[in-house]
Amino acid sequence: MDKLVSLCKRRGFIFPSSEIYGGLNGAWDYGPLGVELKRNLKQAWWDDMVLSHDETAAPAGAPSGYGMVGLDCALLMNPKVWEASGHVGGFSDPMVDDRETRARYRADQIAVFQLEFAASDGSVERYEEVYFASPGELGKTEVSELVEPHRKRIGAIQKTKAGKTLRLAEVPNALRDEGLRAKTLAPGASTPGTLTAPRAFNLMFKTHVGALEDNSNVTYLRPETAQGIFVNFRNVCDTARVRVPFGIGQIGKAFRNEINPRNFTFRSREFEQMEIEFFCRPAEAAKWYEYWRERRFNWYIGLGMRRENLHLREHDASELAHYAAGCADVEYDFPFGRSELEGIANRTDFDLRQHTQLSGKDLSYFDDQATDPAARRYLPYVIEPSAGADRGTLAFLCDAYVEDELGGEPRTVLKLHPRLAPIKAAVFPLVKKDGMPEKALEIYRNLKRRYNVFYDEKGAIGRRYRRQDEAGTPFCITVDGDTLTAGSVTVRERDSSEQVRVGVAELATFLGEKLGI
Ligand code: GAP
Repeated sequence: MDKLVSLCKRRGFIFPSSEIYGGLNGAWDYGPLGVELKRNLKQAWWDDMVLSHDETAAPAGAPSGYGMVGLDCALLMNPKVWEASGHVGGFSDPMVDDRETRARYRADQIAVFQLEFAASDGSVERYEEVYFASPGELGKTEVSELVEPHRKRIGAIQKTKAGKTLRLAEVPNALRDEGLRAKTLAPGASTPGTLTAPRAFNLMFKTHVGALEDNSNVTYLRPETAQGIFVNFRNVCDTARVRVPFGIGQIGKAFRNEINPRNFTFRSREFEQMEIEFFCRPAEAAKWYEYWRERRFNWYIGLGMRRENLHLREHDASELAHYAAGCADVEYDFPFGRSELEGIANRTDFDLRQHTQLSGKDLSYFDDQATDPAARRYLPYVIEPSAGADRGTLAFLCDAYVEDELGGEPRTVLKLHPRLAPIKAAVFPLVKKDGMPEKALEIYRNLKRRYNVFYDEKGAIGRRYRRQDEAGTPFCITVDGDTLTAGSVTVRERDSSEQVRVGVAELATFLGEKLGI
């Protein structure tokens, strides 16, 4: 991960927000290459999910054809939206504070261990005096890593347990137990008992609308884009000539005051979501859920993500939100562990029902195609594929990052799918003389009308190739002596580094075919 973070900084993909002032935890800026990569990802999502559907034909695995339209809603909404959605009452994480170090942790992300001493006869003796808290991934913490800062303390205990192997055993729910909390040594703390009891922390960013900062004009920065879609359900039905089943897609910013933003952009406080709310007949919801799970999983593979790094995990009943009839995560094997990339949920009619009740506006749908006349008016069920644009960008970067060898030298390359690559081709003159820069610039200007291409004449040609490899540029086009006489250029392919000669006149068509865009 460190290598990727360093490449992102060095090549201008991602910078810490307001870096010259020391940054702001959980906020990131996309640099010149990063903004193109993220825009390409969002565009691919919009083209594939919102624009490429055929209402008259059922795609593979779908119960029928369907409609799809887009929306772009305000970030600020009437606060009643968040009451109806349950965010004001329930959108919280359990938080614990350390009174000594002033660190703050998510209670479900801090594990408490106790020492145990195993004898060769298999018997285990637990040490009940001190418990160690670790903010690491649950169960993954090594004994030495956790115990190291407490060597002195452990050394004294260990002396009394000669000949026995020291291990750590996780103690479930220890932070909820006041007695155990009092004995727990927090990370970086000098004495046990400095952690507070877990308490609910609402993740929404509060703000005030207008000049007065009192409770009458509180609202929130939206924590998801989904609710903008639900509250516009009637507007879309009335104006877009859509019929259930249909979906509404939206891409936009969401804000969550995460307790512990971490793992680069993975958990940020400001991020972008790409969400679909897909409205269907209640009886068909299970089939549509299956369809969207597969469709969304395969979308990542279609954009070049390695199949073996992706997993589709169905939630078990205990993980489901009270209103959900099913939920699956698309998970990715990030360098820091397997984590959620996208969630696909069957949200039933929960949201439309809540908004109907609180707003007093009827959000039911009249289905003139329903065969049973008694079942023509209903609240549609909703299947929600909800993806993160920043998390997706990070996963594609992780997946594309490769260190290999070229001509006996190590190189770093981003093997990004051509649709995602920030720069589609770079154009170089071999040397800065003999009319080569002029010809290269002519080719560059010509291609620029269709693709994001880059011109570079500085430095040795090998170094220019390496820079583009690190930027993920699929093709490098070099103008050399033969270009001026034979009218052809060399085109080097990023992943294989193979070079072919292509006529200048055929270049745009050649690239179009190879890039597939
Ligand atoms: N409307 C449903 C919803 O918002 P979610 O699982 O909370 O569901 C959906 O979020 C997706 O948004 C996640 O799978 C992830 O890709 C992205 N996401 C959520 N919180 C995030 C955060 N703090 N930083 C970056 N991405 C986040």
